[in-house]
Amino acid sequence: MASKILIIGACGQIGTELTMALREKQGKDNIIACDIREGSKELMASGPFEIADATNYHQIEDLVIQYDIDEVYLMAAMLSATAEKFPMKGWALNMDSLFHVLNLAKDGKVSKVFWPSSIAVFGPTTPKQNTPQTTIMEPTTVYGISKQAGERWCEYYHRKFGVDVRSIRYPGLISYKTLPGGGTTDYAVEIYHEALKTEKYTSFLKEDTELPMMFMDDAIRATISLMEAPAENVKIRSSYNLSALNFTPETLAASIQKHIPDFEISYDPDFRQAIADSWPSSIDDSAARQDWGWRHEFDLEKMTSQMLEGIKEVHHV
Ligand SMILES: NC(=O)c1ccc[n+]([C@@H]2O[C@H](COP(=O)([O-])OP(=O)(O)OC[C@H]3O[C@@H](n4cnc5c(N)ncnc54)[C@H](O)[C@@H]3O)[C@@H](O)[C@H]2O)c1
Repeated sequence: MASKILIIGACGQIGTELTMALREKQGKDNIIACDIREGSKELMASGPFEIADATNYHQIEDLVIQYDIDEVYLMAAMLSATAEKFPMKGWALNMDSLFHVLNLAKDGKVSKVFWPSSIAVFGPTTPKQNTPQTTIMEPTTVYGISKQAGERWCEYYHRKFGVDVRSIRYPGLISYKTLPGGGTTDYAVEIYHEALKTEKYTSFLKEDTELPMMFMDDAIRATISLMEAPAENVKIRSSYNLSALNFTPETLAASIQKHIPDFEISYDPDFRQAIADSWPSSIDDSAARQDWGWRHEFDLEKMTSQMLEGIKEVHHV
């Protein structure tokens, strides 16, 4: 019998595509989406949806009981750029929601948990190139501190209480179906929309700021395959490094110019530059490749073609 899955924060950039992918794979009635707000038409029409607050333990517990949930994917969070503006709110949302889900698993109410971490767990003292799985981690953002603490708690709940929690340190994620939710890598999505609409884009990061990134299809595939891996293969219970591509705004713009030769980019860095400067440029994900067979499919050229086609189709630009 297919597992019953609850996706919390299902209306966000990742949650939307994850929900659709899991519904496609496991049947729509097995995938319960919830969020504090309604999502896209497509998401709302595709299966069960409930309004619920991830910081309210009883609301989440009620859904778990009502739908006889086996697995929870916790996608609700406050992202890097927004959390710098609302530090205490960001900390409370990111930590309270995680504890609620970990405690549901500890008490045997759900059997498996997915919780995403981020490259934001790293900081300025971390080796920047090919950042190892295990290394110095001194994050300087509220978001990064919450993800780092979250990783420690995931590992603790696994070691101490046997909770089957699995996690990925996502790089910046790029998608055309949904818009990003207030992160430092949002420029890499906005740039495609603006390239199609106005053939111009002003980047809030400098031209040579190299960051690890990934096309959404790869991220969704990674997430589902980590959750499907036999428990004994999931050797890391804090969070796995995961990598696909690394690029700068300048190289991204050049890949767009191959399709839209008149596209022009300019640069006007803001507060997000300091966040980006504290993060790695590239990531060593050999543990994920070895432990559960991770392979990425999208390189920069393939992603750019897909993004431009996808935006035209979905957003009628
Ligand atoms: N998108 C990225 O590039 C990226 C990179 C690294 C890590 N992540 C992590 O992946 C997860 C999902 O990110 P995303 O980009 O989809 O974020 P998002 O901001 O697009 O979506 C988050 C969703 O959570 C919902 N939400 C907020 N507060 C809630 C609450 N109290 N209760 C219920 N729902 C609530 C929001 O309405 C939103 O739909 C987060 O943990 C994020 O930190 C994302």
